[in-house]
Amino acid sequence: MRPGAEMRTLTVQLNERSYPILIGNGLLDETGRFLKEAGFRGKVAIVTNPTIAQLYLDTVYESLEKSGFAAKPILLPDGEEHKNLNTLTTLYDQLIEARFERGSCILALGGGVVGDIAGFAAATYLRGVPYIQVPTTLLAQVDSSVGGKTAVDHREGKNLIGAFYQPRVVLIDIDVLRTLPRRELIAGLAEVIKYGIIEDAALFRLLEKDVQKLVDLDQELLAQVIETSCAIKARVVEQDEREDDYRAVLNFGHTIGHALEAATGYSQLLHGEAVATGMAKAAALSKHLGYCDDQTLERICQLIAQTGLPLELPSGLNMRNLIEGMEVDKKSAGGKIKFVICAGIGKTRFHSLAPQEIAKALGV
Ligand SMILES: NC(=O)c1ccc[n+]([C@@H]2O[C@H](COP(=O)([O-])OP(=O)(O)OC[C@H]3O[C@@H](n4cnc5c(N)ncnc54)[C@H](O)[C@@H]3O)[C@@H](O)[C@H]2O)c1
Ligand SMILES: [Zn+2]
Repeated sequence: MRPGAEMRTLTVQLNERSYPILIGNGLLDETGRFLKEAGFRGKVAIVTNPTIAQLYLDTVYESLEKSGFAAKPILLPDGEEHKNLNTLTTLYDQLIEARFERGSCILALGGGVVGDIAGFAAATYLRGVPYIQVPTTLLAQVDSSVGGKTAVDHREGKNLIGAFYQPRVVLIDIDVLRTLPRRELIAGLAEVIKYGIIEDAALFRLLEKDVQKLVDLDQELLAQVIETSCAIKARVVEQDEREDDYRAVLNFGHTIGHALEAATGYSQLLHGEAVATGMAKAAALSKHLGYCDDQTLERICQLIAQTGLPLELPSGLNMRNLIEGMEVDKKSAGGKIKFVICAGIGKTRFHSLAPQEIAKALGV
């Protein structure tokens, strides 16, 4: 941490599984100290990928060694297509080879892909070892690093094999966003917009006024917005850790978003881009069903458009695939989907809908 730099701290309150989220600039340099303060000793596996390793592995490694840890880097291939059981096996192999024990700790240094795989390895290796999230994408900093969902994909679908397993610490260094490709940064903003729509009208207004400053990496504003986003996610997770009911509000825009990702073969759109279109369509559906007014829909579309995220379904999209994508949504029950509706900025409702009804309302 730079001298004089401010650090923000939140806590996810889950009784004996509670943990801090630390947000600030230059925190990677202090990784070792934070881990020591959290009570860790001995071996730490730094799980990352070559892209991120090139930028940040030395900093994290040196900080850990300086604090007396024995750090072992483990590199996974970069990309969602590697978030699978094969990659997980190579990760277990290396943990076993390095004689990682119960007290050893796994540190996930990367975006949601690294975080999800490393988290699932931590949940399962030796029936569970502690892990730390050090998220390096905006999406991971505001969403995937908090809340304990860990998973790998199966060829039949995303995140089909996983566990709920909370990290011990989330360490968010805002400086790392400077190297994140702009398209990835903007995709991460879709989740921030989502938090405004579902829970926080003040955050939504702030974004309407200043979203460009975030794209331009205004450090103070980023810290504030990341803190607000993590706080919202933490409050939702505290109420419903295992998504029995309320946590599903976090799926706003995701029913259509996930179907869009699947229908476009996971190659055309980033997750946040698909979610942006999904949110615009979910808002249109909310208006169609009488839950919100024209102005709310207008404001949501306007904000999404302002970031440059897509509002419209890609042309040439196979609509049958889109409907099938919604049908396989694992949150669907009894043929209907528990669809998250916007009932005004900052308010949500659930509405049970069949995929065909959704498609019809969207004019598909
Ligand atoms: N567990 C959860 O609750 C949760 C929530 C949302 C999404 N996810 C998962 O997250 C994944 C998507 O995560 P993502 O959007 O972070 O993508 P990602 O992890 O693939 O990262 C995107 C790209 O940016 C690179 N990168 C990461 N940090 C960088 C940096 N600071 N500078 C330069 N390049 C950097 C990565 O190497 C990668 O190429 C999906 O698999 C999704 O299922 C999980
Ligand atoms: Zn998402």
